This record gives sequence, structure tokens and C-alpha cells, in this order.
Amino acid sequence: SHRIMLGPLVAAIDQGTSSTRFLVFNSKTAELLSHHQVEIRQSFPKEGWVEEDPKEILQSVYECMERTCEKLTQLNIDISNIKAIGVTNQRETTLVWDKESGEPLYNAIVWLDLRTQSTVERLINKTPGQNKNHLKHKTGLPISTYFSAVKLRWLMDNVDEVHNAVVSHRAMFGTVDSWLIWCLTGGKSGGVHCTDVTNASRTMLFNIHTLDWDPELCKYFGVPMEILPRVRSSSEIYGLMKSGPLSGIPISGCLGDQSAALVGQMCFQDGQAKNTYGTGCFLLRNTGPKPVMSDHGLLTTVAYKLGRDKPAFYALEGSVAIAGAVVRWLQDNLGIIGSSEELEKLAASVGTSYGCYFVPAFSGLYAPYWEPSARGIICGLTQFTNKNHVAFAALEAVCFQTREILDAMNQDSGIPLTQLQVDGGMTSNRLLMQLQADILCIPVVRPSMPETTALGAAMAAGAAEGVSVWSLSPEDLSEVTSEKSEPQINPEESEFRYARWKKAVQKSMNWET
Ligand code: G3P
Repeated sequence: SHRIMLGPLVAAIDQGTSSTRFLVFNSKTAELLSHHQVEIRQSFPKEGWVEEDPKEILQSVYECMERTCEKLTQLNIDISNIKAIGVTNQRETTLVWDKESGEPLYNAIVWLDLRTQSTVERLINKTPGQNKNHLKHKTGLPISTYFSAVKLRWLMDNVDEVHNAVVSHRAMFGTVDSWLIWCLTGGKSGGVHCTDVTNASRTMLFNIHTLDWDPELCKYFGVPMEILPRVRSSSEIYGLMKSGPLSGIPISGCLGDQSAALVGQMCFQDGQAKNTYGTGCFLLRNTGPKPVMSDHGLLTTVAYKLGRDKPAFYALEGSVAIAGAVVRWLQDNLGIIGSSEELEKLAASVGTSYGCYFVPAFSGLYAPYWEPSARGIICGLTQFTNKNHVAFAALEAVCFQTREILDAMNQDSGIPLTQLQVDGGMTSNRLLMQLQADILCIPVVRPSMPETTALGAAMAAGAAEGVSVWSLSPEDLSEVTSEKSEPQINPEESEFRYARWKKAVQKSMNWET
């Protein structure tokens, strides 16, 4: 019967910026057996601010778990076969809660949030030579609104509840992984306060060489070290689920979502890379067990450490803040589309932006510019331009931004990528994949099982529990690998459009001066 064919199952919580998912895989085949997804509300209380409700995030996880378990039961699959649960999450998003009441002390400040822009500018101005890379030798990161430390500083300075809890030793800080693991393992009655090296490497308080919190960095940002979670590897047992249908099952994998996608795409070799199209867009290239510093605006980040005694692997990362978010913006803020599928239709109906360029610098510009004062622009408009052209320009923007980070990556490594492995929600957009190949001038390859982020976290969780999902050989995987989009326009045309895009980017910068 069905049941006999199933090996042990591994599961993952994938808590992204826009939605939460719970997914269950067959460890023998990496087949996705069942999943459930819930959207997450974002609030924009002031211009540039982005928040989410920590309790809603937690609730969405429980809901996804329960619904997925119901679906499995309907499929006649015994949920007691689930051996391990991994957590993967939107990174950098910052939370502080009270360990005695278990209550969050403020909303989660989402990674995209710009409220710390003036703090960041002040910090950079104070460094010798006004150098945004002043802390890069330790953190791998530029000083930016993106990372957690400045958000945490803002919370301590501006929210009385946070300040008071810190002073009275009741405060706990965490990124989303820490908040979830603490709550799921019991919260105020014995929850485990931890994070993994990949999530920690996005806080700006973490030394990526020693793989530990850095006292000097903590002092620089005025963060008391006692509020920080314990840093652990990405694959070990952190604790057991305390309640719900999966009570008693170990949580034994934890990775930031971009790291998890790298693992899920099996990019274990030095030089292998993937690009994930979610709310933002993140291209990571494995650089092996040593950190490589970029000269072209990329981040150096911990890719994964799959076990306590295993070495840490590092990655170069090109981060783009706005990818899928531009689709949601066209839908919610402009109302020119009713759904993301509609975007593809509108754009395909014209097949060109007709000279219109859209730089969605809603949260400033990330890699390779790191310019918090940039703002979004739509330019090159004529009376002829209509919403279809704007839709097309929005899709192209995602591709041009990827081209910029791919160029930086190629320059840093000296070995150009000959094709790009991609994943994430937007990759179901065929037109986008074709445009991406056209603009990069290399083929773009998409796996048929697009949930690579969740798979990576489930693999890490399984590994800690002796359930290996990587009995999958690279050959098996290349068979699973499906669609390839080949470049179809000539390189001159591609270069021409890219040069125009770069002009548009220049216009989006220095907006406030
Ligand atoms: O650094 C932010 C990133 O982890 C968010 O990923 O998938 O929610 O866009 P996503």
C-alpha cells in the first residue's frame, strides 16, 4: 500500500516575508507530499516603515502545521512518520519579547524597513573616511538599514517597553527563527532561545570568522549581550515541539531562507550558485569553507554549517530588496493588476516596455549600491505608454537587478557563471524567466520542485536526526531539473537595454540631495 512505499518524512516551516508555509517531504525521494500556506499581513505605519505582527506570524505557523497534518491524514499518510522539523525564515527581521510574559514588546521590524536611515547615515559619517564598509572585515556586511543591529537599537531607544525590559533583564532579542523556536519549544515555560549561524550572520553583531557574537560589535551598537540567543549550527536538535499535532517531534534544522535555498538546490560545491525570487531577490554563490570579501558591493555571509562538528561554509550574496514586492505594489497600491498571473498577461500582450524603465527602489537600493536614500522611479514615459508597458518594465526591473548582482559576482570570482539556477514564487512566470535569460545572456534553469527553500531546511533537520535526504545524487537531481530558458535576443540589444537601465538607476539615486 501507499504507506509501505514511504520512508521517514521530514518537514519544514518556511516563514517568509509575504507568507508562511508548512511542507512535508518524503525523505527518500524529496517528493513534496503536502503543504499549506497562509499570507502574512504587512503594515506600513509611516513612510518607509514595514512591520509584521509576531503573534500573527506564530499563529500562521500553527495553522499551517495543523492544516498540513489534516491533509496528510486525508491522504492516508501517518503523521507519526514525520521525524524532524526544520525552520527557515525571512532574515534580519527583528523582534524583542518579554521572557516572563512571553509577549512581544513591539511589532517585528521587517528587513525592508527604512526607519533607521538617519541612524545609518550618522554611523557612516562617524567612521574614518565615511566608509560604509567599516565593519565589513568582521561582519561581511556594509552598515545599512537592512540588518538587525540598527533595528534593535531603534527599539531600545524608542519603545519604552523594550527599554524597560532590557533594563530589568526580561528582554529577549531574536530574528524570526529565534522567536518561532522559542515559542514552539515552550515559550515562557522552558522555550529554547537560540539561532543558527546563518541567521546570526545577518544581524551585524556576529563575527563571521569566530562564528560567535562579537563583544566589540555589541558595544558599537549598544546591545547588551545577555539579550542575544545562543548561536548553534544549522543542523542539530534545538528542542522538541511542545504542543499541536506534532508535539514531541524535534526541531533540528534552522537556516535563513536564502541559505536554505542554496542547500535545497544542492549547491554544496565552491562556485555553485542560485537565485531566489521572493519578496526580494537573492543570488548566493558558495565560496567553500572560507569567507571571501567582495570588491563589488556583495555581502559575505555564512551559507550553512550542517552539524555541530561540521565546518561552516560561506557565500557571496547579491541582495535585491524588491522583486515580488513590486508585483504586490502594482496590485495593492496602483490597482493595475488583480493578481500576479495577470501581470504576466499584461506584460506579454505588449512584449516590450517601449522605452519605459521602472526602478523599484522602495527601500533604497541594496546590492551593489547600498544607497538608502534612493527612491523608486518610473521613467521614459510618453503619451503612448500604458499600464501594460509599466507591467513589462516591472518584470524587466527584476531581471536587470539580477544582472547587476550577477555581474558583480562574476567580477569578484573571476569565473563567470555559465547558467543560473533559479527558484522561488516568481519563477512560475514564464515570461520573467525568458526575459531573465535574455538580459543575462546565459540560460536560466528552474527545478520542477520549486520549494527548494523548504527542502533545504527539511534536509538540515533530517540530517540531525539520522534521516538523510541527500541520498539524492546530483544525477538524480539533474533528472528532476526541468525547465531551461535560453537567451533569444542578440547580446547587442540586451546590452543596449541594460545600459538604459543603468541610467535610470542613476536617476533614482541622490533623490534627497
Ligand atoms: O533577507 C531577506 C530575505 O531572507 C527575505 O526572503 O523570500 O521573504 O523575500 P523572502
